[in-house]
Amino acid sequence: MDFDKNLLDIILENIDEGIHVINKEGYTVIYNKAMEEIEGFNKEEVVGKKLKELFPSLNENTSTLLSALKTNKAITDRYQTYLNKKGNNITSVNTTVPIVINNEIVGAVEISKNFTKIRELYDRILNLNKDSVNDLTRKSFNDIIGASPEFLHTIELAKKASKTSSTVLIIGETGTGKEIIAKCIHDSSSRCEKPFVAVNCAALPEGLLEGILFGTVKGSFTGAIDRPGLFEQANGGTILLDELNSMPINLQAKLLRVLQEGYIRRVGDVRDIPIDVRIIATTNEDPYTSIVEGRMRKDLYYRLSVINIKIPPLRDRKEDIPIFMQEFIKRYNKELLKDVWEISSEVYDGFMSYDWPGNVRELKNYIEGAMNMVIGHVLKMEHFPPHVQEILFNKFKGDVHDLSYDFNVPLDEYLDTMEKNIILKALEKSEYNISKTANLLKIKRQTLQHKLNKYGINK
Ligand SMILES: Nc1ncnc2c1ncn2[C@@H]1O[C@H](COP(=O)(O)OP(=O)(O)OP(=O)(O)O)[C@@H](O)[C@H]1O
Ligand SMILES: [Mg+2]
Repeated sequence: MDFDKNLLDIILENIDEGIHVINKEGYTVIYNKAMEEIEGFNKEEVVGKKLKELFPSLNENTSTLLSALKTNKAITDRYQTYLNKKGNNITSVNTTVPIVINNEIVGAVEISKNFTKIRELYDRILNLNKDSVNDLTRKSFNDIIGASPEFLHTIELAKKASKTSSTVLIIGETGTGKEIIAKCIHDSSSRCEKPFVAVNCAALPEGLLEGILFGTVKGSFTGAIDRPGLFEQANGGTILLDELNSMPINLQAKLLRVLQEGYIRRVGDVRDIPIDVRIIATTNEDPYTSIVEGRMRKDLYYRLSVINIKIPPLRDRKEDIPIFMQEFIKRYNKELLKDVWEISSEVYDGFMSYDWPGNVRELKNYIEGAMNMVIGHVLKMEHFPPHVQEILFNKFKGDVHDLSYDFNVPLDEYLDTMEKNIILKALEKSEYNISKTANLLKIKRQTLQHKLNKYGINK
């Protein structure tokens, strides 16, 4: 008996669901910690008290506990949003069950799930989105930097895309400008007065993403309320499905249906809502790889890639590097009230020989950082922080005894830089022969190959 009682107490105090039990006279006999949090009462205020005295406004019809006691019927998954005793806005989903022993009702138990946090998360995502859409200034193709033939071809395609409402798939490594180009397409299109709504498919769990995209109706799942999704919010405008390759495959099937049929259905609804939304999707990996490895549905890919825009990585269009340097220096001269005219040759060479795995974003960040430090008219190596100097100008000294480790640099990044430099040195020593280099480093050829790919080292 003692064991059972203790066990029950432990369970009651440690579960996430709020538990409130009343006896047949309507007095509270159990009120656990989670319930305290939900309703804002202390256990002492509730246990041993009559429910009707505590909540004078409640009666057998409005109180789920009293109603279960009276009718001997369970009430399941009742959604509630209310201000609790402490004035906090609470969203909960309650199930109330009569307790019947030997055919006699001896009490009722209410089990309450706290959905406040989930609802807040949901609200935040949808509101965040509104903010970012309102915040974004209009982008025009004039803001886009680059003059290499490869890149001009990309821009030509994007300009054509802005003249239509066809779906677009933008493919490019991280930081190549997928988002800015998507925004340009929208802002130069006939939809520019309507919303541009961006959603990052990788950032949200599957369960939430569907509701966020298509909306929900009350009661469709525990915690759901009537709410339009981003597709409805974007009506007449453009929706950007960022990192589509990270969208759960089941949801991709639903998206395909939307694309084909031109209407959406809120989660849990039976109605179809017609929508007119232009879709731009982005992916940072080659679609064929995504398809082969099962991350993207082939049929969705064909449906989306009516217009396929590939943005080449920066290392494949090195002519653009000096242009970016110049333009970003111009921008930060203005923004940071600097007066830089010139780039030192060391800086120039470093920028030209680097591989730019983070592409334009990485380049822009480095320039911004250095521009903050610069005094005078020449941008020099010393204006870059130590870890950037190591990366860009191979200023790295692999001497462990010289513990000049900059604790601002993540360890992984630091070790990667060290490894990359050792490999480069070994390659040089072995006259760029892969087998010899692998031997020298005493690692397998495949391992070396893998690392060469990882660091973007090519002949
Ligand atoms: N051609 C360009 N001209 C001007 N700015 C650019 C260009 N390409 C990229 N940028 C700038 O580089 C940064 C990264 O661009 P963006 O966010 O569009 O990249 P992304 O491809 O969406 O990256 P990710 O895959 O990581 O989301 C932004 O600050 C953007 O303004
Ligand atoms: Mg992006």
